[in-house]
Parts: sequence; structure tokens; C-alpha cells
Amino acid sequence: MTDVTTLGEFIIEKQMDFPGSSGEFSRLLSAIRLASKIVSQQVNKAGLLSHIMGSAGAENVQGEQQQKLDVFANDQFIKALTKRKVVCGIASEENDDFIAINDSGSYIIAMDPLDGSSNIDVNVSIGTIFSIYKRITPEGTPVQKEDFLQKGTSQVAAGYVIYGSSTMMVYTTGHGVNGFTYDPGMGVFILSHPEMKIPQKGKIYSINEGNFYKSSTGVQEFIKYAQKIDPDTNRPYTGRYIGSLVADFHRNLIKGGLYMYPSTTSAPKGKLRLLYECNPLAFIVEQAGGKASDGKNRILDIQPTDLHQRVPYYVGSTEMVNKVEEFISNEDS
Ligand code: AHG
Ligand code: MN
Ligand code: MN
Repeated sequence: MTDVTTLGEFIIEKQMDFPGSSGEFSRLLSAIRLASKIVSQQVNKAGLLSHIMGSAGAENVQGEQQQKLDVFANDQFIKALTKRKVVCGIASEENDDFIAINDSGSYIIAMDPLDGSSNIDVNVSIGTIFSIYKRITPEGTPVQKEDFLQKGTSQVAAGYVIYGSSTMMVYTTGHGVNGFTYDPGMGVFILSHPEMKIPQKGKIYSINEGNFYKSSTGVQEFIKYAQKIDPDTNRPYTGRYIGSLVADFHRNLIKGGLYMYPSTTSAPKGKLRLLYECNPLAFIVEQAGGKASDGKNRILDIQPTDLHQRVPYYVGSTEMVNKVEEFISNEDS
């Protein structure tokens, strides 16, 4: 055990990155770590537990079916963050409005507690995504909506947990990206992927191609470009789409690739949520040397106007994001 670094050790060591943070930020990350261990355990048992599997019978604010594990994960993260009094407020994809917690806290969190929930029942990787900001209203007063509507550039940390063939946590505090693999025997996350970097040129493209004819001509032309045979530019690219953003993103981060959820005729603003999904992964990808765009603008520069706002999303290897942006800008000319 001498050569390994646990997530707990890493958090304490890196607390120096946040002078004056008084340990509150470290305790916040520890609360996330705890909740993700509990969710990981339930995810691994999901096939056995009929009360966890399947629909909870309710719809969330966006009219989507909530799965029982969504509700469970949401509860676990809220509980861990509330009990430890480490945030003043939480915005969750699963709650209509933000939750005010502790007036004296200085951080807020936005989260997608269970991403890829349609994959739970079929034993495919799912995840949790989180994004942390300093509040902008004064400490000691109730948290306000404006504390959550900050640009992605203001994030102080962001991360995800992937519940896959093993459970991993990947996060950034703006000083690079590090990945930790969970050892269920020891009950600890161990630093397994230090200083992660995404390849500049990728070869994988990830999109729900069922939406081809619902997409703009620029996106359609890009897909045709990706499929074209051209050994000089390493094409055709490889198509990979899991339908769990976290899992698709994680693969592309490691191997190099592009994930796309464009606007479509049935979802004119795209499907993914700026606060809970796009901003945190945009922060991570930029810290790993990649790029995230809405097709025209940098994701992190978008001023949010609504908690559950959606945006078209293109994220991954810089050269691939540049290429799809080129096709999108050409469709206008
Ligand atoms: P969630 O389970 O949090 O609602 O997110 C689902 C998202 C994302 O994970 C995934 O990439 C995308 O929806 C898949 O959408 P399609 O089924 O339309 O391809
Ligand atoms: Mn999601
Ligand atoms: Mn979700």
C-alpha cells in the first residue's frame, strides 16, 4: 500500500490549491466520495434488487420517467451534502427547484445524480456528474437562484463518477484532471489515472444516429465526413454510442473522440442540460486539453438563464470539435 495514493490523501494534499478554504471544500469532496460509494454499491446490486430496478412511476421536471435508482442516487447525494453542511444549496436534475441547505456555506453544487438511467436495467455503465461553484451572494444569507446561474468559467471544481466495469471518479479543480478507481475490497478510491490528457486528434465519433434526419445539414455532412474512407486523415472514424453521456465521454477522454448531442427538430435546444451535464464535462475536457462547444460558442462562456436549460453539445478532442464547428458554420453560408 505504500506506493498508492487514495482519493482522501489526494484531497488533503491538494487543499493547498485553495488557500483560505478552511477545509470546507475538502469536506465537500469527501461528501461526494461517500455518496458515490453508496450509489456504486447499489448499482452493483441493481440486478438483484427488484425494488431498486425499474421505474419509480414518477416523472421528473423535464417530463422524463424517473428510475428508482435516480431517486436513490439523488437522495444519497443530497443527504451526504446536507448532513455535512458543506454547501449552501444544491441544484439537481431531479428537482424542479434548487434546495437551500446551510446559509453559512460558501459553495453550491449542481448535479446529475444518475446519468444514463435508461441503461440501468440492461447492465450498461451509468454515472453521476457534479459541478461546484462559490456562491456570489453573501455568506450567512439564504442561497439565491443567481448563485446557480453562473457561467461555467466560474466553476471551482467539476467531476463525474462512472459506475462501469469498475467504479471511477474523475475530477478537476482547475489544475488538470485526475482519475481514481474504486477498490471495493478496501473501500477506497485509488489514484489510477494521474494528469489525464485527451488526444488532440480522435478517431471515435459518438452520436445517436437515429436522429440523423432530425439534425441540421451541417451535422449530417459531418457524419458523412466521419464515415468517408480517407486513409490520410484516418477515416472512416469509429462509431461508438452507449447512450450514457458519462460513459461515452469517459471513453473518448481516454481514447480520443467526439461526443455530439446536436439540436434536432424534436429537441431544438438539444437534449443535454447546461448546468448538470455540459458545463462540468466542458471544464474537465478543457483541463485535459480538449474542447467543448455548442457548435459555435465555447460552452463555459454561456450565461445560464434557467436551471434546467439545455444546449446543443459537442465535446472531446480539439481537432474533432473544430471540424464539426467548421461544418456547422458552413451550413449558414
Ligand atoms: P439522464 O439519464 O441523466 O436523463 O441523461 C441521459 C442523457 C445522456 O446520458 C445520454 O447521452 C443521452 O441522454 C442519450 O440520449 P438519447 O437516448 O436521445 O440518445
Ligand atoms: Mn444525464
Ligand atoms: Mn440523470
